[in-house]
Amino acid sequence: MTPVIRLSGLLLLATLLGAQAKDPYIGSQACRACHVAQTQTFFRNAHTKADRGCESCHGPGRAHVSAGGKKDLIVAFSALSSRKALDNCLSCHGKDWSRNNIRHSSHTQADVVCSTCHSVHQAATPKHLLAKPQKELCYSCHPNVQSQFSMPFKHRVNEGTVQCADCHNPHGAPAPTWRMGQRPRLQQHAQANEQSCLQCHADKRGPFLFEHAALRVDGCGSCHAPHGSANPRLLNRPVVFTLCLECHNGAPGFGLQGQGIPVQSASHNMADPRYQNCTTCHVKIHGSNADARFLR
Ligand code: HEC
Ligand code: HEC
Ligand code: HEC
Ligand code: HEC
Ligand code: HEC
Ligand code: HEC
Ligand code: HEC
Ligand code: HEC
Ligand code: HEC
Ligand code: HEC
Repeated sequence: MTPVIRLSGLLLLATLLGAQAKDPYIGSQACRACHVAQTQTFFRNAHTKADRGCESCHGPGRAHVSAGGKKDLIVAFSALSSRKALDNCLSCHGKDWSRNNIRHSSHTQADVVCSTCHSVHQAATPKHLLAKPQKELCYSCHPNVQSQFSMPFKHRVNEGTVQCADCHNPHGAPAPTWRMGQRPRLQQHAQANEQSCLQCHADKRGPFLFEHAALRVDGCGSCHAPHGSANPRLLNRPVVFTLCLECHNGAPGFGLQGQGIPVQSASHNMADPRYQNCTTCHVKIHGSNADARFLR
């Protein structure tokens, strides 16, 4: 045999073998005949960009099709544990930055996974494929939060001005750098590792020449109820001085030098109602560039 003949023989053999060892993938076209609903709406789905169409999530479908549609021959989400469903989605979405902390988020730990909040085939919102519009989705499991957004003073989530995801990352977030990293969990971070609040209330970011340590160390939540409050300015207490005195009580072990957070000055006559509204004088309560006592 000349080398030329030998080469073409090999090519022939390879072609024959290729046709026999069937590709386990069959292509989305084949699903159309039996799954009309899922196929008809799929063209608007972000997942048309995924290489293998239906089979990118449901796995190779040739065997399922040949058998006329056997459920155990395809990846059926209705038969998967929530962790397996999570792994399926993360096989592509595990690299996305916003899902860096998904594995140890309180949602994953409570078995609330991708397909609980997202609906691939019956999305209520074309954008982000949510199973329900965002606030309804979150309220369905967090009804206590709904009542907080109905308080007299609140962020206007119900009115659509602010969204849960402006302050929370439902996919999990890195540990906060404030409040000893304990709480709050699932916090969306503004720039790098700051509190979500600063995305919108940028004037509170500073840097201030004289900063009020409470902001960065304990967080905005030490004085404000982030969702809603019965008190103006979303304050945690109805009367401002009771809020201040929670920390400004001289108890040792706290404060920047550990010598207690200073009680208000002896010049303050607490019997005089004028002194009770601390922020009439300490106007720059979030920090000042002019005065160490935040008086201007
Ligand atoms: C010949 C018809 C037919 C074709 C073609 C077909 N299927 Fe199916 N499929 C079925 C039937 C019937 C069932 C229900 C089986 C059962 O309940 O035991 C099913 C079940 C499924 C399920 C499980 C749904 C559940 O209960 O969770 C998935 C997922 C699925 N098919 C995906 C596909 C995909 C993807 C394709 C294309 C690659 C495809 N099917 C092609 C008939 C078909
Ligand atoms: C991004 C992943 C993904 C892709 C791509 C995908 N599916 Fe699904 N499919 C799911 C999930 C998740 C479910 C479970 C129900 C749910 O959460 O919406 C499901 C459910 C199903 C079901 C069960 C019936 C139902 O609606 O619950 C069938 C049948 C099905 N898919 C067929 C298809 C077909 C056909 C295609 C391509 C046109 C396709 N899927 C593409 C993820 C996907
Ligand atoms: C084969 C890879 C792959 C798998 C598996 C996969 N996705 Fe996707 N997903 C994609 C691609 C590609 C996009 C489009 C990204 C883009 O538009 O930049 C996307 C987009 C999305 C979006 C964003 C849509 C939008 O409008 O912002 C959501 C939500 C989503 N996927 C959820 C899921 C869920 C839930 C699962 C598991 C049931 C899943 N994906 C499984 C590849 C995948
Ligand atoms: C607790 C509900 C919840 C769970 C669980 C969840 N998501 Fe989301 N996801 C959302 C919401 C709400 C948005 C819209 C966020 C926004 O508007 O900024 C979103 C947005 C997205 C987006 C588009 C924007 C982005 O962040 O890239 C993708 C992709 C996505 N989710 C994929 C997933 C995947 C994959 C999983 C599982 C690994 C998952 N999600 C789990 C609620 C959830
Ligand atoms: C299917 C039910 C479900 C849905 C939908 C859901 N959650 Fe959750 N969420 C839980 C469970 C369960 C936990 C963990 C238990 C707990 O701490 O309450 C949790 C925890 C949280 C936490 C952390 C609480 C803490 O103390 O650390 C936040 C914040 C949160 N969810 C916000 C959201 C937001 C925002 C949405 C909508 C995008 C949402 N959740 C949708 C069930 C759900
Ligand atoms: C303005 C920012 C902001 C918005 C908007 C917001 N949250 Fe929160 N949320 C927070 C902060 C900050 C905490 C932590 C409070 C703490 O440490 O006690 C929190 C705590 C939580 C908690 C855990 C504590 C609890 O009260 O059970 C849940 C659950 C929660 N939020 C759900 C939601 C849901 C659902 C939405 C939308 C309907 C939402 N949040 C909108 C900032 C926000
Ligand atoms: C997505 C943007 C956004 C984020 C993030 C946000 N806020 Fe707000 N905040 C607003 C808007 C808009 C208003 C105006 C409220 C209104 O009038 O509806 C407001 C009002 C307030 C008020 C009351 C102001 C007044 O004059 O009564 C306080 C206090 C406040 N926010 C604190 C916070 C805290 C604390 C956080 C973080 C937990 C936060 N905000 C996160 C947009 C935001
Ligand atoms: C030490 C307590 C304290 C902390 C911590 C705190 N605030 Fe305040 N904040 C107040 C008080 C008190 C008022 C009301 C001032 C007044 O009535 O003059 C206020 C008012 C506000 C207002 C409405 C008036 C204005 O100045 O715009 C916003 C918005 C606000 N705070 C956001 C924030 C944000 C964002 C953080 C975290 C970065 C934060 N606050 C941390 C005590 C605090
Ligand atoms: C969450 C705790 C906390 C709350 C609440 C709080 N502060 Fe502070 N404050 C601090 C800490 C910590 C310092 C720094 C004290 C130190 O130097 O050790 C400080 C410093 C100050 C200073 C500067 C003191 C000095 O001598 O430099 C003033 C003035 C002040 N706070 C006023 C207030 C007022 C008014 C309120 C109420 C609206 C308030 N603080 C609420 C923690 C708090
Ligand atoms: C009438 C204006 C006024 C009111 C109201 C007021 N302060 Fe002051 N505060 C001052 C002035 C001026 C100083 C600095 C001079 C001094 O020490 O008397 C000061 C100083 C302070 C200091 C620093 C003390 C130190 O040792 O460095 C603290 C803390 C403080 N105030 C907290 C409060 C608290 C808490 C309230 C509300 C209960 C309050 N102030 C109400 C005017 C006021």
